[in-house]
Amino acid sequence: MTDIKTAKPFLKWAGGKTQLIKDIERILPTQLTKQKFTYIEPFVGSGAVLFWMLNNFPKLEKAVINDINEDLINTYKTIASNPKELISILQILQDEFHSLEGNEDNKKVYYYKKRELYNSRKEEQSGQAALFIFLNRTCFNGLYRVNRKNEYNVPMGGYKKPTICDKENILAVSEALQKVEILNGDFEQTLNYADKNSLFYFDPPYKPLSETSSFNSYAKDEFNDNEQVRLRDFCSKLDVLNLTWILSNSDVKGKDENDNFFDELYSDFNIQRVEAKRNINANPDKRGKLTELLITNQTANQEYVRAI
Ligand SMILES: C[S@@+](CC[C@H](N)C(=O)[O-])C[C@H]1O[C@@H](n2cnc3c(N)ncnc32)[C@H](O)[C@@H]1O
Repeated sequence: MTDIKTAKPFLKWAGGKTQLIKDIERILPTQLTKQKFTYIEPFVGSGAVLFWMLNNFPKLEKAVINDINEDLINTYKTIASNPKELISILQILQDEFHSLEGNEDNKKVYYYKKRELYNSRKEEQSGQAALFIFLNRTCFNGLYRVNRKNEYNVPMGGYKKPTICDKENILAVSEALQKVEILNGDFEQTLNYADKNSLFYFDPPYKPLSETSSFNSYAKDEFNDNEQVRLRDFCSKLDVLNLTWILSNSDVKGKDENDNFFDELYSDFNIQRVEAKRNINANPDKRGKLTELLITNQTANQEYVRAI
């Protein structure tokens, strides 16, 4: 145990929440996290908030994570149950890929061959998980995008000798995942795993700020406005059950002041606007500070009052 490093996200993921953690910390219900509690993250992605919670809250007794992306969840499960085999496959992929450094054509041939193999979905669990991590580390901007047939279609990125096998972190993540229940499916199923001292953090695919900036195709099914409404209904249900939740989403009003979509949808709850950097925009000029929404059903505590 002693030389185990602190677990951190093992993927680059669009919408990774590292930037927002300080704001989430500010509105955390301290009375809840002081007792034994269950942390539930129904749209886990790369798990930036999950790992932060696991590392910083000793009273977190159990966590439940879920995502609709089957390949992502297969990777979490592999890290939890079979980290050593995964590391040995990743080490081979890393050695082979690094040996091609300096020859872009050969790197591309290698990358596209691995992408094809991944899409054939013929590998067993750890082989498929290793390909998932390999593609994430070597593709353009760490994007995960699939077509309607669930075929991953992101081109190669331009990284020099990217880290593909981060052995220490995979071992640390594996250790941290031992108290985590890992689910694959729709967000609503997580309610079955809640107990009375549960904290939900929702980070759904963000509502696009404009048609062209749209980036929410993490999975083959789109998360459209009806889905945003279904999520709000689920949050209302949790509220009735007296369960605490925090949710983040894009601030569509910051872009168009007449757009009251979220203000109306969550009018019964506490809505905060916070500054957050997002860098999933491929155009560097368009990266920069944006406001995002942090919404919660908990009653205002001291810190919360000061923040607004
Ligand atoms: C904004 S990302 C989460 C980012 C994450 N918080 C992070 O730090 O990387 C949204 C995630 O929701 C997942 N998703 C989309 N529709 C879903 C659904 N109906 N139920 C559960 N997960 C879903 C996507 O696969 C994606 O991983």
